[in-house]
Amino acid sequence: MKEKITMLTSYDYTTARLCDGAGIDVLLVGDSAGMVMMGYQSTIPVTMDQMCLFTSAVSRARRDALVVADLPFMSYQASITDAIANSGRLIKAGADAVKLEGGSEMADTISSIVGVGIPVMGHIGLQPQTTTLSQGYRVQGRTKESAARLIRDARSLEQAGAFCIVLEMVSHDVAEVITRDVANIPTIGIGSGPGCSGQVLVIQDMLGMYELQFSFVKRYRNLSKEIGDAVREYVCDVKESRFPARSADTPKEFLKGIEFEDRKGSSVS
Ligand code: KIV
Repeated sequence: MKEKITMLTSYDYTTARLCDGAGIDVLLVGDSAGMVMMGYQSTIPVTMDQMCLFTSAVSRARRDALVVADLPFMSYQASITDAIANSGRLIKAGADAVKLEGGSEMADTISSIVGVGIPVMGHIGLQPQTTTLSQGYRVQGRTKESAARLIRDARSLEQAGAFCIVLEMVSHDVAEVITRDVANIPTIGIGSGPGCSGQVLVIQDMLGMYELQFSFVKRYRNLSKEIGDAVREYVCDVKESRFPARSADTPKEFLKGIEFEDRKGSSVS
């Protein structure tokens, strides 16, 4: 059996450093940053400037992992020229590859970006950039037409030169078929079952730092509680003068006789 690929989202230096050090294969600077970093309701408002900022922080932390950055909503849909220019910005900010959402309608865009030497990761199934506008958050591929469309989409992404495809909330059976079908490139699943070549999660979800939305997320820790407890302890310590401890670090005689500028006449005795 082939070793599975591990991917987690990352948007900042500190977290990326920890993930890279723990052996993650791919750091995804996802546009889920819109929700978990910026507090937006969806990924729609995310800008190229924001993605470049997150990408540069993550790329400075990376030692071994591959850094993939999302092209945000409307940074690649309007024209191939936009798509190439914005992919270039993410690469200059430190990404190794870019990811974009869409099926066969994105094939020309993908082959044009790949054509200038920028690796592209595809993303089909649930596509958060358009979900709020049309599909709704539900598992994709549960009807014959939708399953056939997903398989067609995966094939055209592979043919267009994508090096990998994210399958988001795709029926487990269909995800397995796609993974076997696009034999030359791996699939990375999120809510798409164990049959994919790898898995991705949003790090805040798996660490329990963000209100869970999806039942497929495995929560590995409850950091909301850990962080909340630590902050409450700090607040109590400061208010009750338990922190910081005092240390005598300047010999008393150094301070004797010093006159304060703003309080002429007063001095340390
Ligand atoms: O933006 C993101 O975090 C993603 C993953 C959910 C795959 O695209």
